[in-house]
Amino acid sequence: MQRIKLSNNLSFSRIIQGFWRLTEWNLTPEELVKFIEDRLELGITTYDTAEIYGKGEAEIQLGKALKLKPKLREKMEIVTKTNITVDFSEDIPFGYYDSRYDRIIASCKKSIDHMNCDYIDLYLIHREDPCINFNEVAKALIDLKKMGLVKEIGVSNFDPMKFKCLNKAVGNTLVTNQIEVNPQCFEHFESGMIDYLTYKEIPPMIWSPVSGGLLFTSTEDIYVNSRKVLDTLAKKYNTTVSTMVYAWLMYHPMKAMPIVGSQKIERIKEALDAFDIKLEHIDWFKIYTSSKQKVLR
Ligand SMILES: NC(=O)c1ccc[n+]([C@@H]2O[C@H](COP(=O)([O-])OP(=O)(O)OC[C@H]3O[C@@H](n4cnc5c(N)ncnc54)[C@H](OP(=O)(O)O)[C@@H]3O)[C@@H](O)[C@H]2O)c1
Repeated sequence: MQRIKLSNNLSFSRIIQGFWRLTEWNLTPEELVKFIEDRLELGITTYDTAEIYGKGEAEIQLGKALKLKPKLREKMEIVTKTNITVDFSEDIPFGYYDSRYDRIIASCKKSIDHMNCDYIDLYLIHREDPCINFNEVAKALIDLKKMGLVKEIGVSNFDPMKFKCLNKAVGNTLVTNQIEVNPQCFEHFESGMIDYLTYKEIPPMIWSPVSGGLLFTSTEDIYVNSRKVLDTLAKKYNTTVSTMVYAWLMYHPMKAMPIVGSQKIERIKEALDAFDIKLEHIDWFKIYTSSKQKVLR
């Protein structure tokens, strides 16, 4: 398994298991222990969750598994996130973001409590809060590090301006930006975020690498178009459509760390197979333009 160094203190398995959908899988704590052990055997040591996943239940389920088998913790890197705020107890029709100091500190302590672990390896500000006070967020993140509650800090879904502002405020210690990239999603290519991370050698974590499954199931043109191109390439490289997408993501010099959202071990193996694909440069562009949203000039 390739590993990616995020700091002197932290490295990740290049392929990460995501737990956004964990509560849909209806796993018992025993089954979740087995789920994690199966992935550890493949070298997948990094696990991504968030305070908000499953309305808070995803972290609790992980905590039950870790309580059952505490030794698992030392073999894993745990990533979790804060700032999406929904009051589930009342029927508030929308969520909002709360990145204020007290909220971040309390939320981190709650996540640690829910997950039955003493610390979080990487703590992320989940979304691009339009009402963010960078210096206040920075103070919270730095304090959490000082308290030994988090090893490293980062962000998710940030645009280049927000990333630069917060990174400056924390003394250039953000170790990642977790962003959506797939053959249908170009937001971070277009914003310059990917260029900036590549230049700064800050490796991004990539969410929804296979477009949340829509790449395989949707009848919308952007997915159907990509599927056709990826099917042809999969035949050329004697592999699967998924493997082609992971190979495409990891070919780019940004040093992407894809987060696989599937519950199926076969789909994890498809991501690992991408390490053996020697993607031709021209084929990277065939995938980039496959949905027909992007036209090269
Ligand atoms: N930071 C953020 O804002 C953010 C947002 C979203 C997600 N995330 C993180 O990123 C992780 C991955 O996101 P994701 O779950 O959207 O990723 P994904 O891996 O692109 O999508 C996973 C979904 O696709 C389905 N799928 C995969 N391969 C398939 C195939 N060959 N045929 C049909 N369906 C297929 C899976 O179903 P099966 O389980 O049946 O395989 C699953 O429902 C999440 O778990 C979370 O940790 C972060």
